[in-house]
Amino acid sequence: MGNENFRFETEAVHSGYRSEEHKGSLVPPLYQTSTFTFSTAEQGERRFAGQEEGFIYSRLGNPTVKILEDKMAKLEQGEAALAFSSGMAAVSAVLTALTKTGDHILCSQGIYGCTFGLLQLLKQKYKISYDFSAMSTREMIEKDLKPNTTCIYIETPINPTMKLVDLELVAITAKQRGIPVVVDNTFCSPYLQTPISHGCDVVLHSATKYICGHGDVIAGVVIGKNEFIQQVSRTTLKDMGGIISPFDAWLLLRGLKTLPVRMDRHCENASMLVGFLRNHPKVETIYFPGNIDYEEDHSIMSKQMKKPGGLISFSIKGTKQTAQLFMNQLKLIKIAVSLGDAETLIQHPATMTHAVVPELERKKMGIEDTLLRLSVGLEAWEDIKEDIEQALEKI
Ligand SMILES: Cc1ncc(COP(=O)(O)O)c(C=O)c1O
Repeated sequence: MGNENFRFETEAVHSGYRSEEHKGSLVPPLYQTSTFTFSTAEQGERRFAGQEEGFIYSRLGNPTVKILEDKMAKLEQGEAALAFSSGMAAVSAVLTALTKTGDHILCSQGIYGCTFGLLQLLKQKYKISYDFSAMSTREMIEKDLKPNTTCIYIETPINPTMKLVDLELVAITAKQRGIPVVVDNTFCSPYLQTPISHGCDVVLHSATKYICGHGDVIAGVVIGKNEFIQQVSRTTLKDMGGIISPFDAWLLLRGLKTLPVRMDRHCENASMLVGFLRNHPKVETIYFPGNIDYEEDHSIMSKQMKKPGGLISFSIKGTKQTAQLFMNQLKLIKIAVSLGDAETLIQHPATMTHAVVPELERKKMGIEDTLLRLSVGLEAWEDIKEDIEQALEKI
């Protein structure tokens, strides 16, 4: 394949890979090797000096990993990409690349619990401060930015409350101050949202989730401009060393081929379940992108998201114990953190993914003790509904 642009579904299958460069193998080969041989000492010298292209050592680059990176760059409409051993390795590589002691990070109103943990570590060890902002208007963003802000870090939809952040609004405001905008696009995958096309600078993923889609890999990906990706590649990836294994990259390449088909099914199932939950007397509130309770999010959603996604959060009437009792009654749905798998998963953010966030901060993020997050899988939606229905009957 040359440089033509195909539709997303076609790019998900083909981009990043040229079978003629790999003995005609239809499927990208797995280069399960730690190092690469040089034909002469001089060739080794040229590779290390950057005078000749080619692989050296798998921490610096690997052909299977490169195919994944090229595909992800294409799907996210970025110039280049880097793969990591986990989503958190990607988050920490980006945040440490963009900050130094004394800098400030402005974050969306909610972020993943371990990202919050990382921010606390950066604050304690390197005096890098952070604040949260609803980022609802230009004035609000400008007010919340500080003279030492060097990075804006966004999740949208926000985990687990599903509120949206207007990517274009943040990107325009940040651009005037030359501040890079980083978006954790894990919840959407590039099939539903491409932040770079809305003016944002860096996109990252916990590729563990929808990118993989099969619950058998922990990985991360960062996408951005060539210059930034080169900087991360030479510093916070190469020297901190959180690289992906070639086998995990190979599994992600396999998963990516079906991303659009899987996402359509996740979204379709989730929409049907929202309809059911909305009318259930034991359900207090539903948090879903474009939900009627989030009036202002409708226009944001139509601007930047193809569909609302496959994640639903909802609160149960009662207490933390009622929510836990409900989870324990489920038969088909598995109690597990993570998301984007074929299996429907349920978790309790206050005691699981966001347990590290202090209670006061958690409440500010809208994470009540009765809140549950459902990652809707690929099963028949009626079976998922019937499982929820029977569990609700028992509480
Ligand atoms: C939104 C989001 N970002 C980042 C991460 C971290 O990813 P990983 O578990 O692959 O390190 C997660 C994990 O759940 C997540 O949900």
